Amino acid sequence: MQRLIINGGKRLNGGVTVHGAKNSALPVLAAAAVCDGISVIHNVPMLSDVEETINILRHLGCGVTREGDTVTVDARGADGFEVPNRLMKEMRSSIIFMGALVSRFGKALVSLPGGCNLGPRPIDLHLSALRQMGLIVEEQEEPGEEGRRDCRLDCRVEKPLEGCEIDLTLPSVGATENIMLAASTARGRTVIQNAACEPEISDLADFLNRAGAKIAGAGEPTVVINGVKSLTGAEHTVIPDRITASTYMAAGAVTRGRVTIKKILPAHLRPVFPVFLRAGCELQVRDRELTLTAPARIKSLGNVKTDYYPGFPTDSQPPLLAMSTLADGRSQFVETIFHNRYAHVDALNDLGANIKVTESMAIVDGVKKLTGREVEAADLRGGAALIIAGLAAEGQTVIGGMNYILRGYDDIEKRLAELGADIRLEE
Ligand code: UD1
Repeated sequence: MQRLIINGGKRLNGGVTVHGAKNSALPVLAAAAVCDGISVIHNVPMLSDVEETINILRHLGCGVTREGDTVTVDARGADGFEVPNRLMKEMRSSIIFMGALVSRFGKALVSLPGGCNLGPRPIDLHLSALRQMGLIVEEQEEPGEEGRRDCRLDCRVEKPLEGCEIDLTLPSVGATENIMLAASTARGRTVIQNAACEPEISDLADFLNRAGAKIAGAGEPTVVINGVKSLTGAEHTVIPDRITASTYMAAGAVTRGRVTIKKILPAHLRPVFPVFLRAGCELQVRDRELTLTAPARIKSLGNVKTDYYPGFPTDSQPPLLAMSTLADGRSQFVETIFHNRYAHVDALNDLGANIKVTESMAIVDGVKKLTGREVEAADLRGGAALIIAGLAAEGQTVIGGMNYILRGYDDIEKRLAELGADIRLEE
């Protein structure tokens, strides 16, 4: 079991490079399995979720090699269409293999996915969209671990998938990606209305288009996909991780620091800029980097409401909420995307924060200081929130549950140490 030990109170100063986006790398790697060819994917972060995705690709018969942040996937010999339950359970994004495998083979055997517990995370939109295209999905119960029943999804086609018009009731990121994958090789034209507009959607479309797909409008609410016979491999560079970037910005702000966040696409961070500006931070934005200079004490973050892109990202809520605990004044958060996304609040209050949660709202009355102690991460971004708090707390904070944090942050302790934090990972 790994624990993160932070001796808080050090002002962060210097530059930090942001790795590739987890939420792009995972669907792009899955998309490589659709290709009857070799794909070379750069800027792939070293994360446990990426390792799990690579394990799935290998299980499907793909040859996968990794050199630094470049992953090469040779999917020419892939013949597997079944993702074992244990691999599906590791992370929610594994559901993307449903669209990928159906696109390549016309069949898939997958399960209801696992992942961080952020309340109910159904896949009804994924299923109804693919069924609309002609996919037959049978739900089968199987005995699982600890007496639980697992749900396997047996997916097949009787004739090639047919393009159609799909109107999503919610702009779901995963559903939009699954539809794009399945529609890439379907017969005719698929139109997704109310598609998710997150930058990771455009990134997946860029990869697929390079591999021969015909997708237009990705990143906008209407996406049009004209099906092609098959995809070849492609070379692609994953976009920078905007959530990780906002986490390092929060680390700089909460420690009264001055940090330069490098290798980013500033446009993707626009939804979080107003919150840092309200907090009194100065932002100097350049081509592929930005410098954040924090005030002596951050001000209230005001009202922060999470929303679909280009709204404020739900994944940035936990680290910024942690930052607001030390603000001069009251900040208010409203979480509109996921229930159960305040799992980090109790631990923050244990460190001395003053946060009250009522349903989807968290009211944070800033305190003058936090005090380090032992806390446990309950999910990935909630874990990041504890790191932000620990960096600013007086004394020592010990964070358990590192397995969650390593799903999304590559070498976070080394990168923070380079900025001047007193932080180490301990077995
Ligand atoms: C993706 C991101 C996750 C991020 C989230 C929202 C990946 C790997 N993960 O997750 O980090 O927090 O987008 O930006 O990219 N919903 C349904 N039915 C469905 C699908 C979704 O009701 O079939 C609901 C969900 O419960 C949630 C909302 O729609 O309330 C958004 O979920 P979705 O956009 O699908 O998130 P994910 O793709 O799981």
